[in-house]
Amino acid sequence: MMLSVEGLHVYIEASHILRDVSLAVGEREVVCLVGRNGAGKTTTLRTIMGYLAPHAGRIRFLDREIGGMRPFAIAQLGMGFAPEDGAIFADLTVAENVEIATWTRRTGRPAGDRLAQAYAVFPVLRRYGARRGTQISGGERKMLSIARALALDPTMLLLDEPFEGLSPAIIPEIGRGIFEITKLGHAILIAESNIHHVPEYTTRLYVIERGEIIFSGHPSEVQRDPAVLRVIGGTP
Ligand SMILES: Nc1ncnc2c1ncn2[C@@H]1O[C@H](COP(=O)(O)OP(=O)(O)O)[C@@H](O)[C@H]1O
Ligand SMILES: [Mg+2]
Repeated sequence: MMLSVEGLHVYIEASHILRDVSLAVGEREVVCLVGRNGAGKTTTLRTIMGYLAPHAGRIRFLDREIGGMRPFAIAQLGMGFAPEDGAIFADLTVAENVEIATWTRRTGRPAGDRLAQAYAVFPVLRRYGARRGTQISGGERKMLSIARALALDPTMLLLDEPFEGLSPAIIPEIGRGIFEITKLGHAILIAESNIHHVPEYTTRLYVIERGEIIFSGHPSEVQRDPAVLRVIGGTP
């Protein structure tokens, strides 16, 4: 497995937020972690990315134990992260926000190629390159955050609620971009609160509820599990 999380427990101050979370993402896989608000999706992604320290459990990425490593070091190993709020640098332009990833991680690929690929996925960003990171719409900020993660030249991407809070008009645009990224061969782990946003090409689905994984399997299997569907609000 490219990424494997086993028996993860995470506390935030005195609260036991993640309880025995295990999940795996293989090469070229698109995996979705679905759960309602407050279930523990962001905590899971932030722990994988090194922003939170695991209390117990193992996190292996490309055959290395990364639990406890710093976010910058994990990014340098090739883990791209598009956080829930986008984390756009307000004082930088759109173009600078994308370029910064090419300095964060140096790879064998020239920066120009990496930027071209990021803009090919979300062309609107090139048009707005000179704008400040704050002078674009919410949907474009989501795109910028994903494009920046892609410009890292990552092996794997963590996308936290890429469709959240967006107008219905922009959702297909983001979906198309994510699909383009899958064609590049990256493994992707998507956190999603809306089961209806889970892409049809998802290879593996996990459902998290109150910090625990309550389902893992192929998305078609969750359709046959009324108890799990009730939690995530899907219709059988
Ligand atoms: N900084 C924090 N301090 C205290 N509790 C937090 C903090 N961040 C998250 N939590 C709690 O952890 C739980 C999981 O949150 P989160 O991982 O953000 O859920 P999700 O992303 O699935 O909506 C929630 O109950 C939330 O209240
Ligand atoms: Mg979240």
